[in-house]
Amino acid sequence: MAFERTLVDDVLKQTDIVDVISNYINVIKKGRNYVAVCPFHDDKNPSLMISKDKQIFKCFVCGHGGTAISFVQDYEKISFGDAVRKVADIAGFTDPRLVETKKALPVDAALVPLYSCISDLAVFYQYGLSTPEGSAGLDYLNGRNLDEPVRSKYQLGYALADGKKAIQYLTNKGHSLKTIEAIGISNGLGSNLTDRNAGRVMFPIADPNGQVVGFSARRIVDSDEAKYINTPETKIFHKATLLYNYHNARRTARHDGYVYVLEGFMDIYALSKVGIESAVALMGTNMSKEHIALLRKLGVEIRLCLDGDRAGQSAMMKIITQLNEERLSYRIVNNQNDERDPDDILQEEGPEALKAYMNRLINRAEFALNFYKQTNTLKTMEERKRLVADFVPILIGATNPLEFEEYINELSRVSEFSVDSIKQIVNRARDKTDHDTVGIMAEFHAERRTYKRYQLAERALLTMMLNDPHAVDFYSSRVEYFYEELYRNIANFVVEYKMKNERIDLPSLLSELSQSELAHKQEMQDEITAISLEKTHPECTDQVMEEYRTTILEEREKFYDKEVVNRAMAGKSAEEQGRIAAEYMAKRFPRVKPKDKDK
Ligand code: CTP
Ligand code: MN
Repeated sequence: MAFERTLVDDVLKQTDIVDVISNYINVIKKGRNYVAVCPFHDDKNPSLMISKDKQIFKCFVCGHGGTAISFVQDYEKISFGDAVRKVADIAGFTDPRLVETKKALPVDAALVPLYSCISDLAVFYQYGLSTPEGSAGLDYLNGRNLDEPVRSKYQLGYALADGKKAIQYLTNKGHSLKTIEAIGISNGLGSNLTDRNAGRVMFPIADPNGQVVGFSARRIVDSDEAKYINTPETKIFHKATLLYNYHNARRTARHDGYVYVLEGFMDIYALSKVGIESAVALMGTNMSKEHIALLRKLGVEIRLCLDGDRAGQSAMMKIITQLNEERLSYRIVNNQNDERDPDDILQEEGPEALKAYMNRLINRAEFALNFYKQTNTLKTMEERKRLVADFVPILIGATNPLEFEEYINELSRVSEFSVDSIKQIVNRARDKTDHDTVGIMAEFHAERRTYKRYQLAERALLTMMLNDPHAVDFYSSRVEYFYEELYRNIANFVVEYKMKNERIDLPSLLSELSQSELAHKQEMQDEITAISLEKTHPECTDQVMEEYRTTILEEREKFYDKEVVNRAMAGKSAEEQGRIAAEYMAKRFPRVKPKDKDK
């Protein structure tokens, strides 16, 4: 669905590109501009530049560039319309024209019976809690302070001890035995199916759309049986791709600016009770690629909180490494040596204590330092070096000298490297960071120098066209077209844009370009952002423009010359062709003697 152009322009006007991009990746202020590690190629240094003045971004290495909207579109790989909505959302801009009519999601028709069957089952389990037999389940939930609001919000239930009843209910509802088998809750075969969850309290697990796709069943008596029985992998249940409570958290996370990542169901309910709804549970301690993708979509800070015991801390260390590789922004709830999970804290110390606990947030380096200090796992040279390397960005970023001093002393103690050598490493890294950025810019500008004279003239004129409507008129009336195809495409687009808008507004022009059907729009967008960020902009006077025009027309003449010569040579003998070519060369380059060019 296409939006009106004015609406897109309104959104862009209300938006700061720095805010928008900061929502997804880490942005660092550098002089008048902002830089970030580019998410569109495998970047090591911050090569992505964000201009607050021009409201565009540009990567000087991979060339990717555009507006706040195109950043979101490319980053999330979503449609232009969805990107406009997201950007408006981040900017806090509301407009009735942005409200989307919810389109039905395309669902695999073969899965529809499974969804319907498992939804019915979830209702049956809920109902189970209110039966006389279900009182065992109800007592258990009450014993854990999971009261009525929590029970209905999370659709908690109880699987009746007689495992035939659930099957009976589903067949009465018209579901085939094949479908019942396919949702993964039964033992046995054919007419002997029984509910494998019988006698347990039931936690339905939903997909990101809120559709129930599986269950986790907790035992309610002490026994040797597994504490939780999870639905096995089915056509609709893939545990590693699901985060518990994601469908709820996705509604609040953007507003809250964070999402807690917890271990289990009980932690989710505990946080919900103290008003923290932006939380998901891993249902264990493994973080999969799919989990990371889901979290990335939320576009907010991740707050990791697994158990404080040794296993939990090791799992966190592993997850942190993953999040870091994926360049997600996160902090960690500092619960080291606290064996209790959030649910335990709530039961033992109450809501205020839990809130305070969840807000004790530390960054990766602090966590790593504590972790190694505590676990004494920092044995090898490699590990010691890695800890220091991990810390270097933090030390570089430490603006407070006292903080710097404290970190470096602690780091020296734990890593067993001297304060002096750590300082040396930090200084070297600091130089390198500055140097790398300079290097990138130098390379970029070096590339420019390889342009031919007429290309530079066309490029310069195009720069003016992007800034000044007067230059657009000059182009239309005096130059008419560029020799260089990419520039010609851009110039034509600018001319069209100016006819409709009078003024040239860069983000608006770019967003109109990305909505167009033009074949080379990506290339054009990348080039426009590159041109707009170049340093040298001579004043746009008629005299300067005339000079450019002369250069451009000269080149064009040569081109037509060459065309004439080519036509003259067509079909001639080799000898004849040689003569024509020599004549042409003499005329074109009267002073150049090919044999003894001086350097
Ligand atoms: N889990 C599981 N299978 C198990 C144990 C745990 O799937 N045998 C998952 C569950 O999703 C559980 C999470 O891992 O919620 C965290 O485990 P744990 O901390 O042991 O469970 P709690 O949620 O704390 O449950 P309880 O307080 O009832 O022990
Ligand atoms: Mn627990």
